[in-house]
Amino acid sequence: MTRALIPGSFDPVTFGHLDVIARAANMYDSVQVSVVRNYSKAPLFTIEERIEMLQTVCGSWDNVSIGSFEGLLVQYAREQDIRVIVKGLRAVSDFEYEFQMAQLNRQLDSSIETMFMMTGTEYAYLSSSIVKEIARLGGSVKGLVPDYVEACLQQKVRRT
Ligand code: PNS
Repeated sequence: MTRALIPGSFDPVTFGHLDVIARAANMYDSVQVSVVRNYSKAPLFTIEERIEMLQTVCGSWDNVSIGSFEGLLVQYAREQDIRVIVKGLRAVSDFEYEFQMAQLNRQLDSSIETMFMMTGTEYAYLSSSIVKEIARLGGSVKGLVPDYVEACLQQKVRRT
């Protein structure tokens, strides 16, 4: 039984994330999507809101569960007895940072592998930051995030 961990900020979850989650769920027996708690950037959504959005849009998938973690990713993976971390790669610009993290994580725990999945080209330009900016500036995020997340974004930007 191979389990995979998909870590991230998910502030908020986009169709790009969901593409990677769905494809990983087809490859691994189970997938745990985990929201990082010690987040250095100032998030728009709280941890609870981000978890709730993930649960709403992919929590009903049979082999996908949603969680959160604090501290080192490899330590959390080890505690959960998960040996595979799955990351999405959108473009060359993601590569350097992801390569650095994968190398350091491997140095911290060589029993945990990082697997990279190329994001579908239709999502290569998509990021949570861009989605938040469009929403803040009053643009439509249809087609970039699920309808539920779009509604959460609209509610949030109206209040901030
Ligand atoms: O969605 P993001 O912001 O790209 O996710 C980044 C994340 C959560 C994967 C990364 O920041 C992380 O792994 N944080 C946990 C802390 C950690 O283990 N740092 C050492 C990595 S070398």
